[in-house]
Amino acid sequence: MTETARTHAPAVRRFCLALLCLGALPCPAADAPAAPRYETRVVHDPDGIGKFYLGREIAQVMGHEGAGWLERPERATQEQPAKLLAALPLRPGAVVADIGAGTGYYTFRIAPLVGARGATGQVYAVDIQPEMLDFLRAKAARLHVTNVVPVLGTLTDPNLPADAVDLALLVDVYHEFSEPYAMMQGIQRALKPGGLAILVEYRGEDARVPIKPLHKMTVAQARKEIEAAGLKWKSTIESLPWQHIIVFRKE
Ligand SMILES: C[S@@+](CC[C@H](N)C(=O)[O-])C[C@H]1O[C@@H](n2cnc3c(N)ncnc32)[C@H](O)[C@@H]1O
Repeated sequence: MTETARTHAPAVRRFCLALLCLGALPCPAADAPAAPRYETRVVHDPDGIGKFYLGREIAQVMGHEGAGWLERPERATQEQPAKLLAALPLRPGAVVADIGAGTGYYTFRIAPLVGARGATGQVYAVDIQPEMLDFLRAKAARLHVTNVVPVLGTLTDPNLPADAVDLALLVDVYHEFSEPYAMMQGIQRALKPGGLAILVEYRGEDARVPIKPLHKMTVAQARKEIEAAGLKWKSTIESLPWQHIIVFRKE
C-alpha cells in the first residue's frame, strides 16, 4: 500500500459508512435484529425459571402461600429492619413505593414515618399476587392505617403514576422479576427526577447467608443489571447482617 492510500483509507471507510447509514445504501447495522435481551436454558436450577438475564438465572416468584415466612418472628433479628429503615432517606410527606410488598413487612413500618405529624406521605404497596394485596388491605384496616395504597402490578409494569415517587424500595424481590428490564423502566417512569430505587438483596458473595443461591444477588450483578436499565448507582450500604442495600438514582 502506498503512503497516500494508507493515509486516506480511514477517511474513505468513514465516507462509505456515512453513505450506508444515510440510506444511500442499505445499512446492515440498522437492518440487523436486536440481540435478544434474555436467554432461555433447558438445564437450569430448580429454583429458577430457566430464563437468564446478563448471565443470572431469574428465581421463581415466592407464592402467597409463603406469607407466613415473610412475617416470621425471627426475621427481626435476622434482618434488623430498624437498621434498614435508618439507612433509608425517609421523611414526613415522602411518597414511597414498596415494590413486591408481599405482606407489607416494610410497608407498615414505613407508613407511619412518611405520614408522621399529619404529613400527606404515602406508601404504594405493589404486588402481582392479589392474595398479597388482600393481606395488605386487611392489615391496613386492622391497624387503621390510611396512607397505604395497594396496587396490583403486572410482570412488566408496577402500574404507578408517572413522576410521583421519591423512593422505590425493592426488598428481596428484584431477583424474582421475570421481566427485570421492563420492570425497572416502569419504576424509573414512576420516580421523580432525582428519586431513588433501593434494592435490598441477600448477599450473593457470602455462602454463610442461609438463603437459596438464586434468591441472593451480588453487588456486581445488581449494578450491571440496574445500570443497563438506565439508573445510576449511588452507593452500597453494608449495615445489615445478611443483605446489601444498593442505592440507585434516576438522573
Ligand atoms: C420474597 S417476597 C418479598 C416481600 C417483601 N418485599 C418482604 O420483604 O417482606 C417477593 C414478593 O414480590 C412479588 N413480586 C414478584 N415479582 C413481582 C413483580 N414483577 N412486580 C411486583 N411484585 C412482584 C411476589 O409476589 C412476592 O410477594
